[in-house]
Amino acid sequence: MAQQKAALSFELVAKCSVTRARASTMVLPHGPVELPMFMPVATQASLKGLTPEQLESLGCRLCLNNTYHLGLKPGQATLDAVGGAHRLQSWNHNILTDSGGFQMVSLLKLAKITEEGVRFLSPHDGSPMLLTPEHSMSLQNSIGSDIMMQLDDVIATTSPDKERMVEAMHRSVRWLDRCIEAHKYPEKQNLFCIIQGGLDLDLRRECVKEMVKRDTPGIAIGGLSGGEEKAKYCAVVRTCTEMLPDMKPRYVMGVGYPEDLVVSVALGADMFDCVWPTRTARFGNAVTSRGTLNLRHASYAADFSPVDENCGCPCCRSKEDGGLGVTKAYVHHLTGKETAGAHILTMHNVYYLLDLMRNARKAIIAGTYPSFVKEFFGKIYKYDK
Ligand code: GUN
Ligand code: ZN
Repeated sequence: MAQQKAALSFELVAKCSVTRARASTMVLPHGPVELPMFMPVATQASLKGLTPEQLESLGCRLCLNNTYHLGLKPGQATLDAVGGAHRLQSWNHNILTDSGGFQMVSLLKLAKITEEGVRFLSPHDGSPMLLTPEHSMSLQNSIGSDIMMQLDDVIATTSPDKERMVEAMHRSVRWLDRCIEAHKYPEKQNLFCIIQGGLDLDLRRECVKEMVKRDTPGIAIGGLSGGEEKAKYCAVVRTCTEMLPDMKPRYVMGVGYPEDLVVSVALGADMFDCVWPTRTARFGNAVTSRGTLNLRHASYAADFSPVDENCGCPCCRSKEDGGLGVTKAYVHHLTGKETAGAHILTMHNVYYLLDLMRNARKAIIAGTYPSFVKEFFGKIYKYDK
């Protein structure tokens, strides 16, 4: 198999001697990023409730956009005219785009998958549309994302249809070949493959072998986080990471609960994304070192402590420390009525997850990841009380 060009460099900084956790640095076209990392999701070239400057101020250097959404609006002609998604959203840091198929299948019940691609009805005017691997790559080339994802055939892990799961795995490999063929700028944009195969470990192993042969600059593990048991999720991530080359970044798609990030890092994963932390913020939920708190609850009405005492985000930091000194009582007062409540919690939640991964990285480098994991779970489940 031909050597693929890469538009990234990857350096391993440290490895945990007990778990499979790694600390690394990946240099992308729009600058270096430190792994492990959480990538917030800015579906429509915007992280709901935050300006690009605010996202930057939290330390985010890589966020997600969606090919499906940007391909519909503003559309390929506008993306070409403005010169890509970085310019569109005034974001000079890195962007990763998901390929679009997963969003269609999860959002549109009527999507139909054939060997050609994903057929669906336009949510705008109901007209029939087709997303092929070639079209997804063309759109992602117009977006100009630093990391592009292959179009893949994703089946819910909970599906009982074994035959369909096998077909989806093999089709994802064939679609990767078509994506590699159609990619116009491999020297400027990195194409990542996505390992499929459901919860069947042999199917996953077969997929890893095929994907690794294609030598993409980075590797994703897909098809997870669909309600499967945690033990099965862990077995899949571990089976894949065991077989993956050390010197490439590993991205587990759709994972965003703090507990899952900490465990998945221990299993050897480097990158994660999820809409949950930003979506849940809009329902009044604060993700904190003591678990998730719903600040709509009446018990917070007169609680004048910060959203999280241990948080260094611009909202939780005190006025004396140059922050806003936001209290739980203030967010309680705002949430559900004033959009500022959602903005504050979005900022806090994104910072919390970025910082959780920054601290995990520090612990891996210091050789203390096992005690980091213990302390993290101790606080979340209050074993220390
Ligand atoms: N987002 C979460 N899981 C997946 C997956 O398996 N494939 C793609 N393309 N996106 C995802
Ligand atoms: Zn905070």
